[in-house]
Amino acid sequence: MGATEPQWVLMATGRSPTNIAVIKYWGKRDEALILPVNDSISVTLDPDHLSATTTVAASPAFPSDRMWLNGKEISLSGGRFQSCLREIRKRARDVDDEKKGIKIKKEDWEKLHVHIASYNNFPTAAGLASSAAGLACLVFTLGKLMNVNEDYGELSSIARQGSGSACRSIYGGFVKWCMGKNDDGSDSMAVQLVNESHWDDLVIIIAVVSSKQKETSSTSGMRDTVETSPLLQYRAQTVVPSRILKMEDAIKNRDFESFARLTCADSNQFHAVCLDTSPPIFYMNDTSHRIISLVEKWNHSEGTPQVAYTFDAGPNAVLIARNRKTATLLLQRLLYTFPPQENDLDSYMLGDKSILSDAGL
Ligand code: DP6
Repeated sequence: MGATEPQWVLMATGRSPTNIAVIKYWGKRDEALILPVNDSISVTLDPDHLSATTTVAASPAFPSDRMWLNGKEISLSGGRFQSCLREIRKRARDVDDEKKGIKIKKEDWEKLHVHIASYNNFPTAAGLASSAAGLACLVFTLGKLMNVNEDYGELSSIARQGSGSACRSIYGGFVKWCMGKNDDGSDSMAVQLVNESHWDDLVIIIAVVSSKQKETSSTSGMRDTVETSPLLQYRAQTVVPSRILKMEDAIKNRDFESFARLTCADSNQFHAVCLDTSPPIFYMNDTSHRIISLVEKWNHSEGTPQVAYTFDAGPNAVLIARNRKTATLLLQRLLYTFPPQENDLDSYMLGDKSILSDAGL
């Protein structure tokens, strides 16, 4: 690769969906390596709805690494991006693209710079988790570009260093992030529990309660919780381990009743732990609480759960209906309780892919 050689650009594009945790990750035992205090389980959404699409390009003409998110340049100086880039570069292999006449030796990747362009197919302002999809996609696509061995466990471990929840978006279906025991994080990675076709009755609906950016980021919120919440230790050491086993069984057996009870209980405990933080963190608002009541009353009146709810670090509700029929009833109930003119739910439009998401499981 000398200055006299013709310039070239090698590109790769990938797409990763976001995921929603049904047993939450909250709290790190190692901030730099992003090692969690407990295992977590999530469901990966259908990529047609909430996903990131990333194109990465390498060329000897690029003087530095650069990245654009939704068309706007962002800084790559953060430690997390750098960790992902470093780990992928370490594993880069020779590339021999005969069609384009491009040959890259694995040692050349250390000197080659990359340009990264990433787009979310949902409004970033909607306050829906985008880092999981974005970082998973970045790692996956860089891996493709640099011909890294497609070991999903290892890719997930690298994505983890970009954002914890991103490690679960490497797979579809239901996914477990095993916290691991090693201090170097080598065994902290995600595994697929079942693929996307295992439980294809489920329908996921996301009700956007507020499109405002959250006040406390997950990263700083969980740091405060680790430092101040006495409840977190009990959750991580006593509650979550047994919940993980029960959730794995519920998923394996498509047992919606257990699945819904565990999902709702874990969301509620996660928010209890936030409240137990000093100063307390309030991610849900009155509308979120009204949605919980609506679902709880409905489930109680049916005698068996029809819908599960879960809330991440914000007020938006993720509702999981047991099947399409229940999802239709749920939408009717939501529209009845929150008529669009009330403007309580910021943007509540049927069929809008940004808020109505079918897991396609
Ligand atoms: C509430 O993965 O965004 O969504 O690792 O600091 O980047 P960092 O945090 P992040 O936290 C997600 C927290 C959560 C629960 C979950 O997805 O398990």
